[in-house]
Amino acid sequence: MIGLPHIAYGGDYNPEQWPTEVWDEDVVLMQRARVNVATVGVFSWAKLEPREGEFDFAWLDDVLDRLHAGGISVDLATATASPPPWVAHKYPASLPVTVDGVTLSPGSRQHYSPSSSDYRRLALRLVRKLAERYHGHPALVAWHVNNEYGCHVSHSYDDESAEAFRQWLIARYETVDGLNEAWGTAFWSQQYSSFDEVLPPRVAPAQPNPSQVLDFDRFSSDALLELYRAEVEVLREVSPGIPITTNFMGFFPGVDYWTWAPHVDFVSDDAYPDPSDPDSVIWAAAQRDLMRSLRGGQPWVLMEQATSAVNWRERNASKDPGANRALSMQSVARGADGILYFQWRQSRSGAEKFHSAIVPHAGPESRVFREAAELGERLSQLDSVIGTRVPASVAIVFDWNSWWAAEQHSTPAKMSYLDALKPWYRAFYDRSVTVDFVHPHGDLSGYDLVVAPMMHIADAATQASLDAFVSGGGVLAMTYFSAILDNDTSVHLDGYLGELQKTFGLRIEEFAPVAAAEGAELGPVVLGGELAGGASLWREYIQPSTAGVLATFDGALTGLPAITRNERGEGTAWYVGTQPDGELTETIVGRLLDEAGVRGILDVPVSGVEAVQRGDLVFVINHAGDEATVSIAGVKHVVAGREFLTIPVP
Ligand code: GLA
Repeated sequence: MIGLPHIAYGGDYNPEQWPTEVWDEDVVLMQRARVNVATVGVFSWAKLEPREGEFDFAWLDDVLDRLHAGGISVDLATATASPPPWVAHKYPASLPVTVDGVTLSPGSRQHYSPSSSDYRRLALRLVRKLAERYHGHPALVAWHVNNEYGCHVSHSYDDESAEAFRQWLIARYETVDGLNEAWGTAFWSQQYSSFDEVLPPRVAPAQPNPSQVLDFDRFSSDALLELYRAEVEVLREVSPGIPITTNFMGFFPGVDYWTWAPHVDFVSDDAYPDPSDPDSVIWAAAQRDLMRSLRGGQPWVLMEQATSAVNWRERNASKDPGANRALSMQSVARGADGILYFQWRQSRSGAEKFHSAIVPHAGPESRVFREAAELGERLSQLDSVIGTRVPASVAIVFDWNSWWAAEQHSTPAKMSYLDALKPWYRAFYDRSVTVDFVHPHGDLSGYDLVVAPMMHIADAATQASLDAFVSGGGVLAMTYFSAILDNDTSVHLDGYLGELQKTFGLRIEEFAPVAAAEGAELGPVVLGGELAGGASLWREYIQPSTAGVLATFDGALTGLPAITRNERGEGTAWYVGTQPDGELTETIVGRLLDEAGVRGILDVPVSGVEAVQRGDLVFVINHAGDEATVSIAGVKHVVAGREFLTIPVP
């Protein structure tokens, strides 16, 4: 971790955009706002190396010295996120190429192919110079590698990427026969006679090979990871002992953070919930929970958020007074040891000049600055929280491979992995039940209840782990379109689910997605029986063997099972063969929690209020504008609008 005795508080600091008189004011204002960390240099490459091989560090020396003199620590960026124009001018092959062959130009940012050898060589030279110069600097507390890997370019289809993809495939399959087998190339005459013939899945006349597409998703995440690790290797050599991170982006589809998390010393995350969407508070909570889960519950850092509006939505709502405090405390409650922003001072020019900051265009005499300073003060009183953990007895299985595979073209209906997951998360959130996310191969032993929404890929290890969880006394719920494929995207035959047929006591014969009704995006499904209610999108022909039926479909599938429950060993396995609506999901979750013996923190849910245990404190956060009264273990507590309370665990 950053290793400060206080919760880290600060943000991206881009002094290169300002004259030095402003730098003097910056340090004074940072002290006033209780800022203790600044992330410096994220987009400074052009200023640090204005011409190839010509370095200028004098200004950065000055910045770091000023910050240190002001008692502010530095999370120093490696500055490789946006190459200067001379890189593209001299090395045009370093530019990324889209799936349909368009070369992306410089003039914005992140214009490099992850597999470009020129970019890598130049980036690593810069990283080495920075590490050599600043390793001993007393302000340095962390290295911030690059920035939001993959945010704008997660996949590049250029020739160097094609070659790197081939090398990745050779390492995975060893022989071209192995690749042919895994990709099912007997279909549509796609059989390769040599790895040299293999290309990235560039735009083709019809649907590309799904295994090729999935492997390119995996390769693209790995190519960025390899690039990150190359920087880390330099930093570890030249600057040992300084913790290293790179900022993640929550539920970002382009990169599999489970594979990245072992390579950061602490997870850091950027989160921009949309203030105009009331549900965004819930998904922000989910994002914090995912970040905490990536490294087994280790505290993490909120590396970027906005004090108020962003500039990249069609309409950029500002945060209401107090909303930033409530969202920041949500992060702390859910495991963050640092609260930082993009950015310290709002830019005067450039593409993000209308993005909020701690010091807005209006200057420190502003609501935004006053609120940020007030929050800095409040956070400085929470030292005892640092390093403490967030207990959870419920986990949701989350898997980028399933996400990628389930949303491919040529599936039985247009699928959304996150839409399949969200109602389940929400039902737990509404009942103040804390949820961890877990990889399909993750350790389930600490949980009483596990939900696996649309776990499309289930290999033998996942099947065995889920079955052992149930047999050992756990409660498991899995939803439709799960356990359909093995790791290579070949289908599990004889009723899908593989060995999980025994776990759930059923087999699945056929899917029957519902055509969208007029005006509705998803087709309606009606369920009867004990768990009668509304659902959408999906139905399937389920044949129970040992499972009991809790709900049945109507229409053409009248009487056929939709939701089932199977007792196996010491536990139970629920199967949900449709997408229940919010109300029905809440009902099912209530039943699951009762069965697993798990209770929420609040005695009765209160809309807009969340409660989370961290260490020996319960955080109660009221995201609504009005005062709320909650009851915890029979004791009433009043929490003002957009305020929080910390109370000892009852
Ligand atoms: C991301 C980037 C920042 C900035 C913000 C704007 O988080 O890392 O550089 O562009 O978005 O919201």
